[in-house]
Amino acid sequence: MRRIVHDVLILGSGLAGLRAAVEISLRSQGAVDIGIVSKVQIMRSHSVCAEGGTGAVMRPEEGDSLELHAWDTVKGSDFLADQDVVDRFVQTAPDEIRLLEHWGVPWSRREDGRVMQRPFGGHSFPRACMAADKTGFFEMQALYDTLQKYSNWKRYDECFVTSLLLDGDRFAGVTVYDLPGGEFTILQGKALLIASGGLGTLYGFTTYSQTVTGDGQAIAYRAGLALEDPEFLQFHPTGLVPSGILMTEGCRGEGGYLRNANGDRFMEKYAPKMMELAPRDIVSRSETTEILEGRGYRRPDGLDYVNLDLTHLGAERIHKRLPLIREVCMNFLGIDPITQVIPIRPVAHYAMGGIEADIEGRSAIENIWVAGEAACHSLHGANRLGCNSTAECLVWGGITGAAIARYVEQNPALSDIPEAHAHEEEGRVFADLLQRSGSENPAEIRRELRSVMDRHAGVYRNGNSMRQGLNSIAELKQRFSKIGIHDRSRVYNTDLTHVLETENMLELAEALLTAAVAREESRGAHARTDFPQRDDERFLAHSIVRNAGGAPQLDYKPVRITNWKPVERKY
Ligand code: FUM
Repeated sequence: MRRIVHDVLILGSGLAGLRAAVEISLRSQGAVDIGIVSKVQIMRSHSVCAEGGTGAVMRPEEGDSLELHAWDTVKGSDFLADQDVVDRFVQTAPDEIRLLEHWGVPWSRREDGRVMQRPFGGHSFPRACMAADKTGFFEMQALYDTLQKYSNWKRYDECFVTSLLLDGDRFAGVTVYDLPGGEFTILQGKALLIASGGLGTLYGFTTYSQTVTGDGQAIAYRAGLALEDPEFLQFHPTGLVPSGILMTEGCRGEGGYLRNANGDRFMEKYAPKMMELAPRDIVSRSETTEILEGRGYRRPDGLDYVNLDLTHLGAERIHKRLPLIREVCMNFLGIDPITQVIPIRPVAHYAMGGIEADIEGRSAIENIWVAGEAACHSLHGANRLGCNSTAECLVWGGITGAAIARYVEQNPALSDIPEAHAHEEEGRVFADLLQRSGSENPAEIRRELRSVMDRHAGVYRNGNSMRQGLNSIAELKQRFSKIGIHDRSRVYNTDLTHVLETENMLELAEALLTAAVAREESRGAHARTDFPQRDDERFLAHSIVRNAGGAPQLDYKPVRITNWKPVERKY
């Protein structure tokens, strides 16, 4: 089997991965050699789809403060965020904005030339630094350009990582299906950063690119790392109907309204102070309630909706600040938001949970770090605030990059590759999965999985429905053991990668639902109709899910509370 060695492997080429690569390159002056492995091409990572902005305190003199950003984040999290992590985050985020400024992000500007910041949900000050409504794209571009200054990195595009190789309790390498070459390969490294993004296509109605299937989380989980707080899945309030494409919160930040079928701005009933800019969990529940109580619009496919109304904003503001939104509405629905309302509903958007990591982004395996959406540093708790995600990718891309550079400077030895495991894995992928000739269609299993998650783990949940969901996942796992693959070739076999992804998704769905059934309370994005109250006595705790011989095993750990005791959330 081909073997390639680097000092550091970075799994994922989105914001967190590229930011870490820049930090390692900068700190080591290009001396640490990096392999960036991605199942897509670098600029096709889902981070390029980030729209609305990146949250940071940039104007203390105008009334914002680090303490206010921290408080908004903790309150938004429904008090499940670890407060020392939140402090670290808010303190570091402004530097990331300044760095990106130096690296060339074309921020939108105010009249006085300073970076424009717009209001975002749950923030008590305009905090989202923006590049129109294409912020992620420009941030990615700037990081990618900055990396071009260095020659210490090599990219492995369209390479699918199938497993982690451990030498005892240390990371040794990863096994990779290299799609263009059709080869199975071992990448060996002294340290690994998992920055492979979210898992949102577990759901049918989602803002995510179809590539976002939680592969990093799944391989870490199989290798013994824990998933933390997987039950907290964010529904963004404004997914375009019927595609699910994100209509950025920036639309409401710029002053957009949400209206029900009676034309009412219904948010005044649910969040009279913050209205459309309440945190996402609250706005998504409000929309769902309006729809369930008959004040939405009905569609035959069940994607009932309410409207996002930008018609009062004026053409100039929309052209300048929301050009992508207009383009998408015109191209996908033939409507012009300057004069027409936009049909929207809550849509699966972000996993608050992920691979358990400490404040430095280090996992339970000493030479594996995690950053970005694949990680759970316990920053977002039960509900993330908008614009805190791209900021988190940058902050922990930087933090983990620095930690990894320091680690590699100490010149640790490469761990031994467990050859037997690597060969077993090659056999599992090429001799087993690829040769399967059963009657079950893997694409159908994936479709059903996503429909199970839409039905049983949505904005509102209850125990009976989630248990049914778990039973359905168990049946789908059974059926997965009887799949057939039509394309048996090795080169660029997307049938095979879809099967690998579906296997990952089934495991993650099971972990999510297991933690969700056990959490008998409502907190943040986890809203149970059978347990409608938050229960701090029993559940002011992080869920920890481990893979115990193929089945999820659940545990809890305390939340770190430093400044703010939990109180009722009012907006
Ligand atoms: O609405 C948005 O632009 C999404 C931002 C986010 O998820 O932080």
